[in-house]
Amino acid sequence: MSAAAQRVAAAAMHAGTSGPDPAPLDASSIRVEFPILWQSVHGKPLVYLDNAATTQKPACVLDAVDAYYRCDNANVHRAVHTLSERATVAFEQARAQVARFVGARDSSEIVFTRGATEALNLVASSYGDMVLRESDEVVLTEMEHHSNIVPWQMACARTGATLRVVPIDDRGELDIEAFGNLLGPRTRIVAVTHVSNALGTVNPVAELVAMAHAAGAKVVVDGAQALPHASVDVAALDCDFYAFSGHKVYAPMGVGALYAKRELLDAMPPWQGGGDMILSVTFEKTLYNVPPYKFEAGTPDVGGAVGLGAALAWLESLGIERVAAHENDLMAYAQQALLGVAGLRVVGTAARKAGVHSFMLEGIHPHDVGTILDHQGVAIRTGHHCAQPVMQHFGIAATARASFAVYNTREDVDRLVDGLHEVKEVFG
Ligand code: ALA
Repeated sequence: MSAAAQRVAAAAMHAGTSGPDPAPLDASSIRVEFPILWQSVHGKPLVYLDNAATTQKPACVLDAVDAYYRCDNANVHRAVHTLSERATVAFEQARAQVARFVGARDSSEIVFTRGATEALNLVASSYGDMVLRESDEVVLTEMEHHSNIVPWQMACARTGATLRVVPIDDRGELDIEAFGNLLGPRTRIVAVTHVSNALGTVNPVAELVAMAHAAGAKVVVDGAQALPHASVDVAALDCDFYAFSGHKVYAPMGVGALYAKRELLDAMPPWQGGGDMILSVTFEKTLYNVPPYKFEAGTPDVGGAVGLGAALAWLESLGIERVAAHENDLMAYAQQALLGVAGLRVVGTAARKAGVHSFMLEGIHPHDVGTILDHQGVAIRTGHHCAQPVMQHFGIAATARASFAVYNTREDVDRLVDGLHEVKEVFG
């Protein structure tokens, strides 16, 4: 058994009875658990700083998916044979792991989806179409990812409701007073990101939820950029919906989840039809299954769900508070180090940030920054980060973005800064 597997097993055995190891995380030893990070790119050891786009996967997650396909693969909820029963148990165990990780009251409050985007589309289509009427309003923020804008535009186009947008200030923080002023009797839904993927801003979600609830609105949280970086407790936040992607939290691509309060899932109509979401079908009438199955038409990504369960168990074994402490340290170190690069401007200077530093180098296009860094073996993302309204706010087309994960170290930040000096030399 690998050290990581032993740690995960011990954490599972002691779940609820002992806290995580209080010692700080040793990111270099965690990095060893990620085979993809052992390689060189352009002859330089890889420094991967594009974690907001997708995280890499630890060996225990790769092993869990591999073992599922080698030993247990079958369709779920459909047959009495042994493999189907094993696959169903593995799938439902993964759902229980997700529920525990986010603090849901019950596994039935977790719907598996392809990712945060599909989860947000599910809410906009099902809940949005159920409640929105002409003259109703959907409030979202200027810092949303396109996946928490476009589904609401589409819902408004179908229902005649109107979008209202909460502005951000020049630090990239939400204007809470403007938010309060936008809330009113017409507000049905508030859609807000927990952490901005383009700026790193951490929004005060519990406060926003309380304000929205006082106005009678339901709250949909895009948690894609929050879950990897800090403990999330949907019960404490009291949000109505919480969406996230597996691939940003060390799990495979193609799987994610929607948390929703059970009473809302009970009331909502299905949004896709097919197998598994029904109790019975005749040409005259179809009876729908109970949540969460009502929202899971067709064969799900069972292997992906198994990988997601393994990834969350792995994160729990590290201790999410220790992960957050390590990443906060790294963010602070990176901020100081970036300030030492002449001509560099950080875009997004909120008091509370997680995971992301976006920046511009004076006179140099972000794509050129990214290309030269790649030749140094340093992977960052450049572009609008699927958040064009954020770029419009700052009057820019793109930024360079370094984003961090638990396996990143201060040495990685040093390599980024050395690479930026190289970029400046090239553009001399
Ligand atoms: N939404 C992902 C990002 O921020 C793809 O990079």
